[in-house]
Amino acid sequence: MSRIRVTHARIAASTVALALLSLQMQAQQPGPMPGLEPTRAQHAMVTTVQHDASDAGLAILKQGGNAVDAAVAVGFALAVTYPFAGNLGGGGFMLIRDKHGKTHFLDYREKAPAAASRDMYLDAQGNIIPGMSLVGFKASGVPGSVAGLTFAQKHFGKLSLAEDMAPAIKLATEGFVLTAPEAASLQSKNMARSATSAHIYQRDGNFYKEGETIRLPLLAATLTAISKDPATFYKGAMAHQIGDFEKAGGGLITAEDLAAYEVKDRKPIKGQYHGYDIITAPPPSSGGIVLVQILDILASYDLAKLGPDRSAAQVHIITEAFRRAYMDRADYLGDPDFNQLPLKQMASLKYAAAWRGSIDPSKPTPSKSLVRPAGFLPPPPDSVPHKQPTDTTHYSIVDKDGNAVSVTTTLNGGFGNGITVDGLGFLMNNEMDDFTSKVGVPNMFGLIQSSANGIAPRKRPLSAMTPTILTTHGHWYRRGKLSLVLGSPGGSTIITTVANDIISIVDNGLNVQQAADAPRFHHQYLPDRLDLERKFPIDIGNQLKAMGYATNRDQAADEKTGGTWGDSEIIAVDPKTGELLGGHDSRRTYGKAAGY
Ligand code: GLY
Repeated sequence: MSRIRVTHARIAASTVALALLSLQMQAQQPGPMPGLEPTRAQHAMVTTVQHDASDAGLAILKQGGNAVDAAVAVGFALAVTYPFAGNLGGGGFMLIRDKHGKTHFLDYREKAPAAASRDMYLDAQGNIIPGMSLVGFKASGVPGSVAGLTFAQKHFGKLSLAEDMAPAIKLATEGFVLTAPEAASLQSKNMARSATSAHIYQRDGNFYKEGETIRLPLLAATLTAISKDPATFYKGAMAHQIGDFEKAGGGLITAEDLAAYEVKDRKPIKGQYHGYDIITAPPPSSGGIVLVQILDILASYDLAKLGPDRSAAQVHIITEAFRRAYMDRADYLGDPDFNQLPLKQMASLKYAAAWRGSIDPSKPTPSKSLVRPAGFLPPPPDSVPHKQPTDTTHYSIVDKDGNAVSVTTTLNGGFGNGITVDGLGFLMNNEMDDFTSKVGVPNMFGLIQSSANGIAPRKRPLSAMTPTILTTHGHWYRRGKLSLVLGSPGGSTIITTVANDIISIVDNGLNVQQAADAPRFHHQYLPDRLDLERKFPIDIGNQLKAMGYATNRDQAADEKTGGTWGDSEIIAVDPKTGELLGGHDSRRTYGKAAGY
């Protein structure tokens, strides 16, 4: 029998086995959750994790700003109202698709300071100094957010920077009312380590309570100064103030590092899935290429037949795609300005088909016995396990003209390194932890990264942030139509959350609210463990266990979030009416989808 016939026979057998598995499981399958309705709007929509930030974006849209203006307004507003991840002292990615179909990916990821070095987190014996890449001044990369947001306003906005920043300045000056979870989060031990942070956010121990208004006058002054002269942050008085503060604290960031910071306008990664074009994050994010690989591997399954959403049969196949794509993430990715990355090979459909051929329809492939299909990728550099913090934030915007913006931004850990810059009132990131601290030695955590992501001066650490936009499949003679704008925080779980949201909507017919709220599952190759959110259906988890999966439900997926992760912020365009449908993740009770 020829090789092709063997392959066909295998696929046919696989299809039968999958269909049988699906039938066996149908009795206990969950369906889309009833009663979860999206927020509807005729003209424009903003979805964010924090309701005042959503209102800030909406106000700008109503004032005549476009989606980029609104994204700038939301970015600065989140720096005020969501200090957990919104930021001036961090970085992010902004994916723009304008109404003509033109796309931009603004990379304002933090960069390693010039004085950073490969072994900076190792002791004299060459061992990792625990916590050093996360805690203290040396954990910070050179922040990119102010550069990114002001670049976006300058090149793609319609309103002035002062107009875009006005809502954030108002929120910082007049204050905003804290909900219970927001007030509780400000009690962070991370911030208690910094006297300035403890003073501003914790009133030196007299913690804020639900219903109280928090005002941030220092941050208001900083925002006002940036709105008048954005160059001050990188090349003016503020840059020197930040450099002096970092030096006094033992950090590496200098005024020269800030002056050398530049935003990159990169080409997004593009793919296709079941009638849609995917526009997503290129390196230094691992998100887009891994998302495209996952969807390419899944493309020739009839997932709907294996459904409904979150059925064991479907979760199995999706998990096996996650496992394979994350193996490649582990081995190859890093800053594209410092590495030759085999992106074309990773996105090859033949390669996806070869991976697909290794999926057993009835049981998981143990990660340790997973073998990458030969002949596609070069030999990988060394790799080590690594865990990415999950404390990022995402927001999505569509304006009345159909311009769409998808932004994911981060300080890395919740409240970054917890240190507020004296006299300026903003928190600094601990993004240096996203680099590989030591190549070749396993640490206690999960995600694997290679020497392609080793520390080097002025390099950007690998990210998982995956701001994504879907359009209907376009042709040279006809542009695709805007369909979905989405993304999520969640460290290594970002990519699987975005993939699951796409599959829930495209294959399973869930609406954006149902997709955002659906119980999550995640696999990242190593550790070889299927993570299930606490609310993931018990019976489906048991079926997956019976198939051979090691599942992790009882243990909280993330100790700080009690068994949930992610925050899907999704906007869909109704293909028939053009109405905008917003899905704000119900896990975060203080956010909302807002439209008009
Ligand atoms: N710091 C989280 C990420 O960039 O993926």
